[in-house]
Amino acid sequence: MSAGNHQSLEEQVAILKDRLAQAQRLTALGELASTTTHEFNNVLTTIINYARLGLRHKDQATREKSFEKILSAGTRAARITSTILGFARNRPHSLEPTDMVKLVDDTLLLLERELNKYRVTVERYVDAVPKTLANPNQIQQVFLNLLINARQAMPQGGRVVIKLNHDRESDMVDLVVRDTGCGMTPEVLRRIFDPFFTTKTGPDASGKGGTGLGLSTCREIIEAHHGRIRVDSTPGKGTAFTLKLPVARGAVPLAPSTTAIPAPAPSDSAPSPAIITPAAQ
Ligand SMILES: Nc1ncnc2c1ncn2[C@@H]1O[C@H](COP(=O)(O)OP(=O)(O)OP(=O)(O)O)[C@@H](O)[C@H]1O
Ligand SMILES: [Mg+2]
Repeated sequence: MSAGNHQSLEEQVAILKDRLAQAQRLTALGELASTTTHEFNNVLTTIINYARLGLRHKDQATREKSFEKILSAGTRAARITSTILGFARNRPHSLEPTDMVKLVDDTLLLLERELNKYRVTVERYVDAVPKTLANPNQIQQVFLNLLINARQAMPQGGRVVIKLNHDRESDMVDLVVRDTGCGMTPEVLRRIFDPFFTTKTGPDASGKGGTGLGLSTCREIIEAHHGRIRVDSTPGKGTAFTLKLPVARGAVPLAPSTTAIPAPAPSDSAPSPAIITPAAQ
């Protein structure tokens, strides 16, 4: 085979990889769209009901309460749309100083209802972290993939622990997504980053999962960020994925987050034996 042919094969592989990444992005967007539609219906119901209440009751107190409810429902809806719009905008190659606290909270807001529906509680331990050098859409896509996998690993419900902290030693920001789900055997673990590897029979009741592209895309994205993705898993106990992302140079640390999802001190007990899969090989 001539060198020219060889190069064109490599080029073809690159083009196909690009298309695959694009397909996964569209899948994630489609999944988000269905989640958001449900979410919007709920918000609209709240707005309509409180508008009716305010019209029916002329007293000041009821009207004030109605306006407050309408305002907070409207604000929530606006946050949801702006997140979706940000996600839909395709800026695949731009890295910018990224506020990880906001990214985590925006994504959790989108998935909140779905996680509740599947009886998954979220514990959130978010430190003041410096901005990372990242493409926010892509990192959000990775975080969403990990959250959906975690939810799917807990069909009877369970707990997702989200941790965000600055690892001073490596000067990277760590985002951990830990679940109390089914965990993985070593045989499964070895293959999870392979494109199209899946143990799922197809999309679940909410239309998500089963193509086997989620984690391979996550890995591609994290590698392109010069970051790392690690996984620790114990069958029957749970799984923890850790993303490590480089800090944006010259960035100022963010103020501590005040968003309250009260929770006890993090437990680091399960899952135990660490199987570490470095992103770059
Ligand atoms: N948190 C988790 N707990 C247990 N198993 C997991 C977890 N995350 C991933 N897996 C395993 O890794 C496999 C690959 O995950 P991946 O996200 O790449 O694909 P998928 O979820 O099957 O399909 P999709 O492409 O729709 O995400 C899953 O089928 C599952 O077996
Ligand atoms: Mg998945």
